[in-house]
Parts: sequence; C-alpha cells; structure tokens
Amino acid sequence: MAKKFRFRLAGRTAPLSVEGWRKRARGRVPEMVWAYIENGADDERTLRENRAAYEEWYLHQRVLTTTSDVDLRVKVAGTSLDLPVVLAPTGLAGAAHWHGDLGAAKAAEDAGTRLVLSSASAYSIEEVAQGTAEHHWFQLYPWRDRGLMASLMDRAQDSGFAALFVTVDVPVYGNRLRERRTGMALPPTLTPARVLNAATRPRWTYGYLRHRRTTLRNLEPDSGSRGGFESVEIQSANLTADIGWADLEWIRSRWTGPLLVKGVMHPDDAQRVVDLGADGVVVSNHGGRQLNAVQPTLRALPAIAERIGDRAEVLVDGGIRTGSDVIIALALGADACLVGRPLVYGLAGGGAEGVADVLRIFREEMVRGMTMMGRARVGELSRADIAPRR
Ligand SMILES: Cc1cc2nc3c(=O)[nH]c(=O)nc-3n(C[C@H](O)[C@H](O)[C@H](O)COP(=O)(O)O)c2cc1C
Repeated sequence: MAKKFRFRLAGRTAPLSVEGWRKRARGRVPEMVWAYIENGADDERTLRENRAAYEEWYLHQRVLTTTSDVDLRVKVAGTSLDLPVVLAPTGLAGAAHWHGDLGAAKAAEDAGTRLVLSSASAYSIEEVAQGTAEHHWFQLYPWRDRGLMASLMDRAQDSGFAALFVTVDVPVYGNRLRERRTGMALPPTLTPARVLNAATRPRWTYGYLRHRRTTLRNLEPDSGSRGGFESVEIQSANLTADIGWADLEWIRSRWTGPLLVKGVMHPDDAQRVVDLGADGVVVSNHGGRQLNAVQPTLRALPAIAERIGDRAEVLVDGGIRTGSDVIIALALGADACLVGRPLVYGLAGGGAEGVADVLRIFREEMVRGMTMMGRARVGELSRADIAPRR
C-alpha cells in the first residue's frame, strides 16, 4: 500500500514573532523593494544602534505579585488606545503589498490602535477614511508649497482624521545606499535584471500589476487615478531645507486638532515644539533613514521625557520589535511607541492580515512580559522596572 505523505507547505504557519514576519517579508518582495524597506542612511550605524539600544536594558522579574488582568490601554492625541503601539507613517507602503495603508489602518483599528497615514500613502486620505470605521491620524511634511499643505490638512480634517503628525526630520533626503544601489530611487530605475528579479515574486508582481498601489495617491490630481510618477516628482520638488519654526507655527495655526511633531531628538527642540503649542513629540530619527550617526532614539528619549513629559505627550519609534522593547520605552518615559518596519513586514508578508498578526504579537508579548514583571497597567511602568546592562 502506498505510504501516505503529509506535506506542510513552507510558509503556511504564521510567523511567531516580528522577526519571523521580517523573514517572511523578505521572500515576498523584489530586492529593490526590500532595500527600500530595510535600509538606513550611509553606513547604517543609527539603524543598527536604534535596535541595539534595547539590548542595553534588562527587565526586572518580580514574583508572587502577578495578575491575569493586564491592562495595556493608553491615551494618545485624545484617543483611547487598547495597545500602546501605533502604526508609524510609511510612505510607499503599497510597494510592500497592494493592501497598503488601507489594510494597515483596518488592522490597526481591529487591534484597538491607529495608523498614522503617511502623506506619501498609496491610498488617499479619502479612501482610508471611507474604508475604515475609526478616525485615524495624518502625517504631513512641512513643504515648500503652503497651498498644497493647506489642502492636505483640509482634506484630512474634512475626512475626520483626528490628529496631525508633522514630520520635521526630512529637510533633505538621507543618503540611503541600498536603495540607490538597487535602483529604488524616485522614480525607480528598472533594468532587465531587476524586472527578472520581480518575476521571481509572482504574487507580488500580480498584486502590483493588478492594483498599481505604488504612487502617492494624495498628490495625484484625481486621487483615484493610476498616474505615473508625477506624484513622486511633486513630493521631491516640495522638499526644501528652507523650512523653519515659522512653518511649524503656521501649520499649528491652521490645524485645530491635536498636533504632534515627529523627528525630534534634542530636548531643546522638544521644548520649543511644545512652547509653540504642539501637544507632543515623537522622538524619532526616521528609523535611521535620515541623519546617520545621530544617537539611537531610546538614548534620546529620557532627557526629552524629563523636559516636556509633564506638559506634552512623548512617543518614540525606531528599532522596536518586541513587547519587551515597548515595555522598556515606556519605562524610560514614553507614553506610547510607533512601529514602522514591523508594519511593513506584516504587509509584505501577509497583507492586512500580516499587520494584524504583528499587532497581535506585540500585544501578547507585552501582556506576557508585564505579567512576569508583576505590573498590571502600563501607566505603572517606570525606571524602577528596568536595569541598565552596566
Ligand atoms: C519604508 C519606510 C517608509 C517611511 N516613510 C515615512 C513617511 O512617509 N513619513 C514619515 O514621517 N516617516 C516615514 N518613515 C519613518 C517611520 O515613520 C518611522 O519613524 C520609522 O520607521 C521607525 O523605525 P522602525 O522602522 O525601526 O520602527 C518610513 C519608514 C520606513 C521603513
């Protein structure tokens, strides 16, 4: 009698960690897209150190004080979240998977959190508003063209986006070598070898050709159109180093809801941002994609939290990959965290479901960790819960 074999197709079981999703994602997208997602600026020192900074801390394990009722709720930008992990704005997310920002927003709200929609999103402000149940948040770059900024802010406000994140760490693009080497410039340079490489990812290629979610839909005249790279050119042309505090002041005067400033790394800047009327900051170095050799965000966090933490919200991102990382960041003064690449890994590896799974992993790891630390609420976490490596 023929022996029955049982095959288990590789990749059928869901990854069990964010790192697992990273590995899956890598096999699902063409090389140039992977370079775009993963790379940092120059020799990527800051990219590496963002992550390594978390290895410099230990959690205190406490016993016989545990509870099965761990509460991860926090309030950010006036919204109650069930999880202190927010999805960071990631431009061109549609290049990872055609579900893009819309899929990410749905996954976020299902997990009781929110997406910060990038101004460089593959789904327009209106598409995300119509396709979701909750009010998400919008990210804006201070650009040369105030008319364009005003129209994006109006569209976001009219569509019910509840908070604005102004990203201030891109006066020029960081020098991202892997992106440049693989032709993932704006617009991308295609060679026969690169096209061939994309063909080895048939699922991705089908999604790309069928849905064309790789342009910046907010910047296309007709947001539903499938335009070429004009939108990318509009963004590049709007980038200017001649932006300053007056621009932020102008944005603050126009946006009536909560406003957070993303990309703050110095306590003096944090203070000025808050003096100007912002509701908070995101301590961020753009995931190591902008100024290389700037310090890791976890290291910049405590001084900023100390300076403005009693008056404003302090969020942090960069290198956060596990529930323990989130716990460490909260213990060092953050009110909540943002995750960029983990969102893109989930998308690339499994579309909206992948993002949902990434958020579920963060939740489970946090609950498990806090239980073993004897902490019932995230608000209880403090410096006393962690110890430095040396
Ligand atoms: C692929 C990619 C695209 C990004 N696009 C944007 C963007 O459009 N706007 C923005 O403010 N930040 C952008 N970022 C930065 C993220 O919002 C976030 O600061 C960073 O990814 C955090 O680091 P992490 O990836 O280690 O979590 C992007 C990051 C990545 C990886």
